[in-house]
Amino acid sequence: MNGFVYDIPVKVYFGENQLGHLGEELGKYGKRVLLTYGGGSIKRIGLYDRIIAELKKGGFEVFELSGIEPNPRIESVRRGVRICKEEKIDVLLAVGGGSTIDATKFMAAGACVEHDPWDFLNEKRAPIEKALPIVTVLTLAATGSEMDCGGVISNPETHDKIGRLAPAMLPKVSFLDPTLTYTVSPYQTACGAVDMLSHIIEVYFNMEQDLYMLDCFMEGMMKTIVKYAPIAMKEPENYEARANLMWTSSWAINGFVNGGKQQAWSCHPMEHELSAIYDITHGLGLAILTPRWMEYCLDERTVSKYVQFGVNVFGIRADKEPMAIAHESIERLSEFLFDTLQLKSTFTEVGIKAEDFPVMARKACAGGILPGFKPLEQKDIEKIFEMCL
Ligand code: NZQ
Ligand code: ZN
Repeated sequence: MNGFVYDIPVKVYFGENQLGHLGEELGKYGKRVLLTYGGGSIKRIGLYDRIIAELKKGGFEVFELSGIEPNPRIESVRRGVRICKEEKIDVLLAVGGGSTIDATKFMAAGACVEHDPWDFLNEKRAPIEKALPIVTVLTLAATGSEMDCGGVISNPETHDKIGRLAPAMLPKVSFLDPTLTYTVSPYQTACGAVDMLSHIIEVYFNMEQDLYMLDCFMEGMMKTIVKYAPIAMKEPENYEARANLMWTSSWAINGFVNGGKQQAWSCHPMEHELSAIYDITHGLGLAILTPRWMEYCLDERTVSKYVQFGVNVFGIRADKEPMAIAHESIERLSEFLFDTLQLKSTFTEVGIKAEDFPVMARKACAGGILPGFKPLEQKDIEKIFEMCL
């Protein structure tokens, strides 16, 4: 095992009826709160009223920023930064899915600097040393943004979708109430499941080191997703299914499973280029890409990882030829994604066109090499895209 730093300082309130602690937690940071949310789902599910009641009870002065888009845009971040500065906000309260939380992270950081927040993400990579405190109430299990220090922002003008990590943007507190995800549609539930599965696969598929303990942990999380995502789609108010998915989403990406592994990710950089141009749901893009990427990276050197995955996650019999097990693993994953979760399986079905492959592939590897499970150059990524047509 390589050396690593274990530091996951997000306080989590998990379970039903924890919102009573909201006032006490926010109050540690001040009285002027910026409440951020998306397109209105929090109003439709009655959460907005509950939050406002808690804030009134605590005597907070509340400012609001609504309309944060799925695949959140830099313009929303800029609006939030303006409010933070003009209203001297003390703490930001993000209520929603990954898009709301991600945008709020960059508002919190942008409030502490003079420059445009896009400079955190473009080639200037302006340092993120400070951010206003962030508290989150999660309503969709998927990205893990509630417990990680990353965020991904889109700029439709430049067709960019760019991520950035910075410890200063870690939420101080996150409220994880599985009942708040009962209203998430089967489609978004499926996309969320694929996102967390992909976060694990990006780390698990690694030939550098043997981290048995972490591999077992990741296999357990992947089995949890395979078991509970279909149940949550069919029985949206199944508490155990929603709870298992929610806690998995956080642990898939909160840094624990990395444990010294330093390998870069592969499917995520490729997917971000799809949603940058086509504004598709992140989990859907990952579903289409992942089995093709696995097929492309399979060879004599990597086959053992596919065997481990197929046997331990999908229960494939171990007494066959390794290559046969590897192919069966990819098939079982594809069945899960496209039959069980009912996601579209090709670029053609979602309108992604081959003419954009060169530019998307070049940006995914930044014109050089994407140094993941198997290093990929532009031409490799274009081939993977072609397999997705
Ligand atoms: O906008 P509202 O009205 O709230 O509706 C949302 C949105 O339409 C809806 N929704 C959320 N909670 C709901 C609900 N509908 C009914 N009931 C509820 N309880 O779901 C839709 C999608 O929401 P969104 O926040 O966009 O989804 P998700 O959580 O999957 O976030 C996706 C974004 O996160 C980024 C993705 O790239 C994408 O931009 N990611 C962030 C990461 C991170 N911070 O670490 C890592 C990921 O890999 C990912 O890239
Ligand atoms: Zn993701």
